[in-house]
Amino acid sequence: MAKQLLVGFILSVLTMCVIAQRVNDKFVVKTLPTGKVIYISKTFMSWYGGLDYCNKFGLSLVSLNSQNENKQLSNVLQKVLPRNEVHCWLGGYKFQDENGFNSLRWVNGGRNITFTNWAKSEPSHGNEHCLEMYYRQYRGDVATWNDRYCHDKHPFVCEKRSHGNAKRC
Ligand SMILES: *[C@@H]1O[C@H](CO)[C@@H](O)[C@H](O)[C@H]1NC(C)=O
Repeated sequence: MAKQLLVGFILSVLTMCVIAQRVNDKFVVKTLPTGKVIYISKTFMSWYGGLDYCNKFGLSLVSLNSQNENKQLSNVLQKVLPRNEVHCWLGGYKFQDENGFNSLRWVNGGRNITFTNWAKSEPSHGNEHCLEMYYRQYRGDVATWNDRYCHDKHPFVCEKRSHGNAKRC
């Protein structure tokens, strides 16, 4: 019995190590001053592709809790992401309820988005249902938001899922 437990323990440690290694291969992992751990993708994908990709690692697309955290994220992205890019997907999307009423939500946990940081003249709506951040100075400002066509391919940021029991592989 003790032996089985020991073998089980060693196997789970090894599994965690393999997953950790894979995560480090696929993402640049950073911790914001607020304490949020973020996983910055090394690939460009659509918003949907990014969500799937985060999910594969037991993660979701990133949500933000304050303007302060929004700014902190852009500071880190400026150091990690390409200099010639400005777009990065966040985990916000437009949700339409049973009555056709629109709201903006974080996909991780489904909460309403309670603060916004739109760039000038945004959101422009139309066919643009996914939330991105301009992580460099763009149209005069930094860390502002835009609603964007979800199929455009950009880097994206994941975070730990807000619900427990996430299957990790
Ligand atoms: C989310 O926002 C929508 C639109 O403003 C509102 O109708 C709804 O009650 C909000 N939900 C929660 C849980 O706050």
